[in-house]
Amino acid sequence: MNYKIALIPGDGIGPEIVCQAVKVLDAVGEIFGHKFAYQNLPLGGCAVDLVGEPYPEGTTEACKASDAVLLGAVGGPKWDELPVSLRPEKALLKLRSELGLFANLRPAVLRPALAAVSPLKSEITENGIDLMIVRELTGGVYFGKRERYQTSDRGEEASDLMAYSEMEIERIGRRAFELARMRRKKLASVDKANVLETSRLWRSVMHRLKEEYPDVEYSDVLVDNCAMQLMRSPFSFDVLVMENMFGDILSDEAGMATGSLGLLPSASIGAGGPGVYEPSHGSVPQMAGLDEANPLATILSAAMLLRYSLSLPEEATAVETAVDDVLNAGYRTRDMAGGGPSVGTERMGQLVRDAVRKK
Ligand code: IPM
Ligand code: MN
Repeated sequence: MNYKIALIPGDGIGPEIVCQAVKVLDAVGEIFGHKFAYQNLPLGGCAVDLVGEPYPEGTTEACKASDAVLLGAVGGPKWDELPVSLRPEKALLKLRSELGLFANLRPAVLRPALAAVSPLKSEITENGIDLMIVRELTGGVYFGKRERYQTSDRGEEASDLMAYSEMEIERIGRRAFELARMRRKKLASVDKANVLETSRLWRSVMHRLKEEYPDVEYSDVLVDNCAMQLMRSPFSFDVLVMENMFGDILSDEAGMATGSLGLLPSASIGAGGPGVYEPSHGSVPQMAGLDEANPLATILSAAMLLRYSLSLPEEATAVETAVDDVLNAGYRTRDMAGGGPSVGTERMGQLVRDAVRKK
């Protein structure tokens, strides 16, 4: 089969890690008999430098004409002083909203070979970690009305509105229940229903939905308590579903529990059309160009792309087990090496390619 993939390498370490993921995809193509055709799109800071805006015209159309989008990372200190409308992050948010990517899947898996890199005690990590955060991605405070104005007596004032509709909650809720069904059939819905009205609506919609999924063991967890439990007993979670900003925060926390953000992929998907696949770690500008970045999160994102957008589960598993093989053989990039010997970005990519070819 032939597939069209839009590549958004972006800024910082983005181009280096996307390059390695592309080479892994090509190795998969050779073995399984697929052809991937790539189109490079500038987005974020590099697009500001190139055309004067972070989200060049035609980006949405080019993405929609592809089967999936593989993204590196956007942003960096170079563009931090720009006005809000020109900031690279703006482009990322626009991409999510233009493509209707309301569901962000962020798995956090503690790979046995890496248990020692986790900052958690071994009594905790010995139970393993294998959870999936399902983050609502196109609503809530990220997309609510923003204001900043002068008051007569309290100086300047600012506000960011958090709003959610039943429709938005129901569609992310269903995604989460369905994912739980495909895994260990446990779903925790995370909210702040003791304080927030949006959370009370969230909870009531989830309770309505849980009647339709009696085979899934459902629980409500308050977000502060969830942050605590992720440290104390991360193994107790399977799928967690939550609103946009809670998901932003808790996915970093869950990710760190697995030892390195450098290993965490993510998938952003909508009701149809191409999904966007990207590592969770960001552009790490200080590491750019040094051949030190960990390409595995991007390579694992490419595996999610194969699974969720191209419906090629066997190919996806081949990539994931190749990554495990390389880690089991003891290879580490600097972020995972804990001061021990390490390999560079290019070499790590090569090792995964070789492991894929041995499958
Ligand atoms: C993420 C990032 C983004 C977010 C930023 C860069 C806008 O932190 O993907 O988690 O907050 O969603
Ligand atoms: Mn984040």
